[in-house]
Amino acid sequence: MAAIKTLLLIFSCSSLLILSSVCEAQTAPPLVKGLNYTFYKTTCPNLESIITKQLKSAFSNNSGLAAGLLRLHFHDCFVQSGGPNYSVPLGRRDSATFATANATTKFLPSPKSNVSDLLAALALNNLTVNDLVALSGGHTIGIGHCASFNNRLFPSRDSTMDPTFFNNLRLTCPTNQTVNTTNLDVRTPNTFDNKYYVDLVNRQGLFTSDQDMFVDSRTKPISGGPNYKVPLGRRDGTTFATVNDTLKFLPSPISNVTTLLSALALNNLDVNDLVALSGGHTIGIGHCTSFENRLFPTRDSNMNQTFFKNLRLTCPVLNTTNHDLRTPNIFDNKYYVDLMNRQELFTSDQGLNNDSRTKPIVLGFAINQSLFFEKFVFSMVKMGMLNVLTGTSGQIRANCSAKNPGTVGDAWSVVDLEVGSGGSAAAY
Ligand SMILES: *[C@@H]1O[C@H](CO)[C@@H](O)[C@H](O)[C@H]1NC(C)=O
Ligand SMILES: *[C@@H]1O[C@H](CO)[C@@H](O)[C@H](O)[C@H]1NC(C)=O
Ligand SMILES: *[C@@H]1O[C@H](CO)[C@@H](O)[C@H](O)[C@H]1NC(C)=O
Ligand SMILES: *[C@@H]1O[C@H](CO)[C@@H](O)[C@H](O)[C@H]1NC(C)=O
Ligand SMILES: *[C@@H]1O[C@H](CO)[C@@H](O)[C@H](O)[C@H]1NC(C)=O
Ligand SMILES: *[C@@H]1O[C@H](CO)[C@@H](O)[C@H](O)[C@H]1NC(C)=O
Ligand SMILES: *[C@@H]1O[C@H](CO)[C@@H](O)[C@H](O)[C@H]1NC(C)=O
Ligand SMILES: *[C@@H]1O[C@H](CO)[C@@H](O)[C@H](O)[C@H]1NC(C)=O
Ligand SMILES: *[C@@H]1O[C@H](CO)[C@@H](O)[C@H](O)[C@H]1NC(C)=O
Ligand SMILES: *[C@@H]1O[C@H](CO)[C@@H](O)[C@H](O)[C@H]1NC(C)=O
Ligand SMILES: *[C@@H]1O[C@H](CO)[C@@H](O)[C@H](O)[C@H]1NC(C)=O
Ligand SMILES: *[C@@H]1O[C@H](CO)[C@@H](O)[C@H](O)[C@H]1NC(C)=O
Repeated sequence: MAAIKTLLLIFSCSSLLILSSVCEAQTAPPLVKGLNYTFYKTTCPNLESIITKQLKSAFSNNSGLAAGLLRLHFHDCFVQSGGPNYSVPLGRRDSATFATANATTKFLPSPKSNVSDLLAALALNNLTVNDLVALSGGHTIGIGHCASFNNRLFPSRDSTMDPTFFNNLRLTCPTNQTVNTTNLDVRTPNTFDNKYYVDLVNRQGLFTSDQDMFVDSRTKPISGGPNYKVPLGRRDGTTFATVNDTLKFLPSPISNVTTLLSALALNNLDVNDLVALSGGHTIGIGHCTSFENRLFPTRDSNMNQTFFKNLRLTCPVLNTTNHDLRTPNIFDNKYYVDLMNRQELFTSDQGLNNDSRTKPIVLGFAINQSLFFEKFVFSMVKMGMLNVLTGTSGQIRANCSAKNPGTVGDAWSVVDLEVGSGGSAAAY
């Protein structure tokens, strides 16, 4: 836990987790008239914390909801003005209790603690489950002593540890009394990045206090990604999208890049927006019906052979599979690595790595996650301001999925979000 102590001060603006601290400095497109970041400052000053709390609870119940919410945002923004109002996790504000190392050190639990013990210890300082996960990310750099994790090596391998990782650790710590050390982050031991969380997903966390976060349901579902400020003040529409409206703006998953660009251009979105927004497929699942065109009757030559063989086994049995085979539940840039390895599901995704207009952007994001996050946020905010209803236009629904009583027309939406099981680059 040594790394944590020295890193407390920089955490206020370095965490990559959705449910952690908010960075103030960020690139954003110009706000459209009627939206601003302080819309609810007087009417609902605790809006962000209320939403965060609810989403955190929902995500811990069902981690698939993060992808679902992202998809909802695409439907909401692309299809027509003012769908159900939406919320993205904004995260808590930075805590003043991070200020001194001593104050926190006092409450730091042992590396052999499980999540229950960790939460109990942090609660003494009013730190939450989100703080736990974010602060533990300090283990992206630094070293650990054999004595701090020998409980996971002796007398036998902790079942939550990757066997190869275990074998290597047993070389470093051959006996229960060895005094060697090893890196906390097996991937990028000297770089402050989010690879620590990738380690956990791959069962390569060093301490019980690290790895148990990927075991415990209270900490596992948090899926990462950039924080960003959301322009507020969008109002709900009084008409629902038809199936045709939906298909017009959300091109099918078998679309090529030309078709995708034409569809996005209808909403003034460009090639940078296309590649960035497609990165939403870093989480979530795809339905086999949306990519069977690439499996049958024969393999799409643009698909990796091993990947193909696995999909041919998965699809008839499960009907769905993860979009991002590398880190399916982490919001990171691995989607672009998948693309470069011809391991994405949809034509509309994989094509991005073949078209000269999009390929350089894919490469840029694959090697630079910060760049991806920056461009993704920019495009999300831009998308969130398409054709918005503000001021006295539209209405604020009392029930998110129904028009207010007295509104002319159908009361309920007839378009299921799964419509056609087709959809855009990023929405399915
Ligand atoms: C934000 O928008 C609301 C509603 O239009 C307005 O009352 C408020 O003054 C705006 N805030 C800022 C800082 O512009
Ligand atoms: C958790 O999921 C169950 C079943 O899907 C649902 O009934 C329940 O309302 C959910 N709880 C929360 C807090 O979202
Ligand atoms: C931190 O704690 C140590 C040992 O208890 C003490 O010597 C030191 O003065 C404290 N530092 C601060 C800034 O309070
Ligand atoms: C966590 O560890 C404590 C001992 O430190 C133990 O009493 C408790 O049962 C453990 N909880 C879980 C969920 O494993
Ligand atoms: C934690 O919160 C409680 C209630 O708000 C407060 O009384 C207490 O002083 C806080 N403790 C710390 C260490 O901040
Ligand atoms: C390993 O050593 C620790 C003390 O460092 C001790 O508590 C533990 O019982 C030992 N485990 C085994 C299996 O020898
Ligand atoms: C660990 O320590 C042992 C002696 O206890 C030594 O033989 C071994 O080379 C060390 N391994 C590493 C990776 O430092
Ligand atoms: C929807 O589009 C299809 C194909 O373009 C067309 O045949 C159908 O009439 C349209 N439906 C409505 C309700 O406009
Ligand atoms: C892209 O798809 C459209 C519609 O299917 C087709 O007309 C066009 O020829 C395709 N373009 C390329 C470059 O493959
Ligand atoms: C396909 O992916 C596998 C790993 O899943 C890799 O070993 C193989 O080299 C890849 N094939 C090609 C042609 O890239
Ligand atoms: C897959 O789809 C088929 C046909 O719709 C259905 O019978 C089967 O239950 C589905 N399997 C799973 C695991 O959902
Ligand atoms: C969003 O919809 C809910 C009802 O589902 C409503 O209570 C709330 O006021 C709406 N929020 C905004 C920002 O329009």
